[in-house]
Amino acid sequence: MGTEERLRDLRARKARVEAGGGQARVDAQHNRGKMTARERLEMLLDEGSFQEIDALVEHRCRDFDMDKNIIPGDGVVTGHGTINGREIFAFAQDFTVYGGSLGEMHGLKICKVLDMALKTGRPVIGLNDSGGARIQEGVASLGSYAEIFFRNVRASGVVPQISVIMGPCAGGAVYSPAITDFVIMVDKTAHMFITGPEVIKTVTNEEVSFEDLGGAGTHGSKSGVSHFTAEDDQGAIDLARELVDLLPANNMEKPPIKKTSDSATRVCENLDSIVPEDPTKPYDVKDVITEILDDGGFLEVQENWAGNIVVGFGHLNGSTVGVVANQPKILAGCLDIDASDKAARFVRFCDAFNIPIITLEDVPGFLPGTNQEWGGIIRHGAKLLYAYAEATVPKLTVILRKAYGGAYDVMSSKHIRGDYNVAWPSAELAVMGAEGAVQIIHRRRLQNARDPEGERTRLIEDFEEKFANPYKAAALGYLDDVIEPNQTRERLCKALGMLLDKEELRPARKHGNIPL
Ligand code: HXC
Repeated sequence: MGTEERLRDLRARKARVEAGGGQARVDAQHNRGKMTARERLEMLLDEGSFQEIDALVEHRCRDFDMDKNIIPGDGVVTGHGTINGREIFAFAQDFTVYGGSLGEMHGLKICKVLDMALKTGRPVIGLNDSGGARIQEGVASLGSYAEIFFRNVRASGVVPQISVIMGPCAGGAVYSPAITDFVIMVDKTAHMFITGPEVIKTVTNEEVSFEDLGGAGTHGSKSGVSHFTAEDDQGAIDLARELVDLLPANNMEKPPIKKTSDSATRVCENLDSIVPEDPTKPYDVKDVITEILDDGGFLEVQENWAGNIVVGFGHLNGSTVGVVANQPKILAGCLDIDASDKAARFVRFCDAFNIPIITLEDVPGFLPGTNQEWGGIIRHGAKLLYAYAEATVPKLTVILRKAYGGAYDVMSSKHIRGDYNVAWPSAELAVMGAEGAVQIIHRRRLQNARDPEGERTRLIEDFEEKFANPYKAAALGYLDDVIEPNQTRERLCKALGMLLDKEELRPARKHGNIPL
């Protein structure tokens, strides 16, 4: 073969790779409102930055006439490129090739990308669109899946891993995304489930559609499996890019700084009147969050699940911060099973990637009820306590109103090593609310009172005056200060500046035993 011919041959081979499963299947993909794997990667990465690897990999299955249908690349496009100039690794499953199903070599291509991401300390983004294990390849396919899972676990807490679900993701295939840090699902086209509607019908006699079972709406609001829902492929990719912009490339780096013209000393006058006079009245804690953060920017995570706690990312004086806030608008801001799980995972993510945590607290306690107790609120609440206590990143806490009972301890209190703990004058730090407390400690007195209702009111007022304020805690040094709400941004910016180089060690061990 002469030089010309060799080049022609190489180009022909590459053209075969690019054609994927052929024009008819590409058209079918487009007709469903889905982009192809290559189009998605082009959109994900900075223009012209994508560099493919393993384009010429082929499967080696000889059963079911598979040797007559070899498509180079084997149904997944892998490589690296940049997002706003920062290097990342990515893979995109190609639904036009065997339905994006994962065979031995397809899986090993993904493994190579995960290995390189770990070696070089770069984030990985997986664009998932797959019929699951490639049936023809049998156990070789399952083997490759497990190789991926192992690598996802090894990379967990070392490099950020983001999964975008842009089509089916069924059976054991869901476990790679589930191990990664963030799952983004495209509305209507993404479906995740362990067993599909037909199997469910046979086993449990339940009838359920794909969408109700495992659509973006379900996983965004009922199961908590997904962190973000996007309207379409483009929206999902935009979210993945936004996340990468916020995060460090690996656990040895600090998050990038985002320039802002928002003054670190900006006075937040709106905050002075945000907490209603009546302590039983709700307000929207998201108004507090956006008032405090740079330019009001806040990327909420798991917006539609466990809304009684709000978690997400923003910037404070340019630094990426994670925010955890009780939401008085939903379940009065109580901590329940889902809220504990949601916040615990978020706190651990932030801690793994050197992201300071801002906690805004207004929590009347853990949610009472048999549902919660029998569902293991003790176990789940303990996760949040564990996560906060374990975290060594800067931890800044503002108590806006209620900080009752065990929830006071859990929500990044001084005692579990909050670094900077302040309260607004509206804060109430107590073992429980005044009414409950009076009922317990004055039961006999109330039973014997001539005017029990009048006596109850008096005792409640007395309790509130004594305990429903931040000053007892401030006197003990449990709070570093009581501040005017309008100063909150300024105080947090200053404290964060003071804490940015914080170092705190925990005893060396293999790993702790978080109550999962
Ligand atoms: C091989 C597959 C495939 C698979 C789809 N295809 N899934 N090939 N293995 N798992 C092929 C089809 O044969 C078809 O090929 C093409 O992909 C498109 O599939 P269609 O069925 O035509 O598309 P659609 O109607 O959109 O349905 C998509 C689908 C359906 C919902 C994903 O194909 C499906 O249910 N597939 C099986 C899903 C499944 O049970 N997977 C195994 C799960 S168990 P042609 O040539 O016609 O284009 C699992 C275990 C993993 O994954 C365990 C890890 C621990």
